[in-house]
Amino acid sequence: MSILRTKPIGGEQPSGLKRALGPGSLIALGIGAIIGTGIFVLTGVAAAEHAGPALVLAFIFAGTACALAALCYAEFAAMIPVSGSAYSYAYATLGEGVAWFVGWLLVLEYLFAASTVSVGWSGYIVSLLNQIGWHIPTAISTAPFAPGAKPGEIVTTGAIFNLPAVLIVGLVTALCYTGIKQSANFNTIVVMIKVVVIVLFIGFGATLIDTHNWHPFIPPNEGPGRFGWDGIFRAASIIFFAYIGFDAVSTAAQEAKNPQRDMPVGILGSLIICTILYIAVSAVLTGMVHFDELNVPAPVAYALDKYPSVSWLGILIKLGAIAGMTSVILVMILGQPRIFYSMSKDGLLPPAFARVHPKFQTPGFSTLVTGVVAAIMGGLLPVTILGELVSFGTLTAFLVVCLGVLVLRYTRPDLKRPFRVPAAHFVCIGGALACGFLVIQLSGNAWGLAMIWTALGFLVYGLYGYRNSKLNKA
Ligand code: ALA
Repeated sequence: MSILRTKPIGGEQPSGLKRALGPGSLIALGIGAIIGTGIFVLTGVAAAEHAGPALVLAFIFAGTACALAALCYAEFAAMIPVSGSAYSYAYATLGEGVAWFVGWLLVLEYLFAASTVSVGWSGYIVSLLNQIGWHIPTAISTAPFAPGAKPGEIVTTGAIFNLPAVLIVGLVTALCYTGIKQSANFNTIVVMIKVVVIVLFIGFGATLIDTHNWHPFIPPNEGPGRFGWDGIFRAASIIFFAYIGFDAVSTAAQEAKNPQRDMPVGILGSLIICTILYIAVSAVLTGMVHFDELNVPAPVAYALDKYPSVSWLGILIKLGAIAGMTSVILVMILGQPRIFYSMSKDGLLPPAFARVHPKFQTPGFSTLVTGVVAAIMGGLLPVTILGELVSFGTLTAFLVVCLGVLVLRYTRPDLKRPFRVPAAHFVCIGGALACGFLVIQLSGNAWGLAMIWTALGFLVYGLYGYRNSKLNKA
């Protein structure tokens, strides 16, 4: 059966993409993609509605699931350093059908994440401009569609489109189009700003903790997903979004100077740094204000505003959040075209997607397609619809990667593995189970939309990829 055919490993052709990234740039790329809407926006609702002070435990649980997946990504990225990430790993291990499915789901992760975060970016910039007296009308700064009261229902809001979201995606796309090195340099500066701002929050916030706010640490359960252990797991599935992005490092494998050594460093290094920061932020945040006050759009700035001595930091947090979200959009818009590039090289997408720009040495056409679609989605849809789809696509890709590492240990024990997952059975099976568990926690709406997306994907595969696959011709 040809959907089970696998792609041989090794013998990759030179890509034409520029090898410009060292270990520092790769760690910055990971942090660039990770710290954004998740920590600056979603922590509030996760604490107030689901976990209370035990938000810390939700971060530890989601972080552990990601650490297991990250180890698996590190093994693959060092062994098969190509730009297709989970898509390419699935193609080498589980066959073309699964690879296509994963590649299609990665569009939910990268392209949709760029849209989701552009909406968060728009919210922050509008509120900041408001503070200095510039009022952007709601009609051109919010989405025209929103989820209705009934499951699956979509209603109109009266707005026209979300102009700031479209503008930021357009600007970032232009940057990504013109070169990986400029993009990485810009990213490194932005990452420094956001990390400094977060460290300032932890440092100043820690002196303002009132330990009474941590009691009860796990508030008693009040129904499905509301507090207690059930609430902690629901919160973990929401704030999982905050960790998404370490895997984006793997899409730059063909632009890394020494991928065998530096891919694991970039993937694991960025995740470790962000996990430590996240656990500290959630402890400080729930210690500074009682969790039931945190259901606000900018919880971190809200906590600072409560203490006049540090309210100056509130404005810095907003700037840091805007910088942070910009770099998330950037890394996602860098990652998506590189996956399209790999799929096109394999014949599963039309050849234009693998075209490399002669001057800029970037996948130009794929970058434009990514930017245009991401801008349209960001302009039209709200975070609530986009965010869960991103988590769905990412968790499913992680699950496949965890299983893929184990499969390849049996089918190709001979391959050179510059990085090996320790205790592979435990890590791979544990990672797959943890990601599977989190995907089950997502809402029925997200599952419904993801099923429609998957069906559409298989239609495209049936009509194009199945016939044009390079393996067919081989
Ligand atoms: N982890 C990224 C964020 O939180 C996607 O914005």
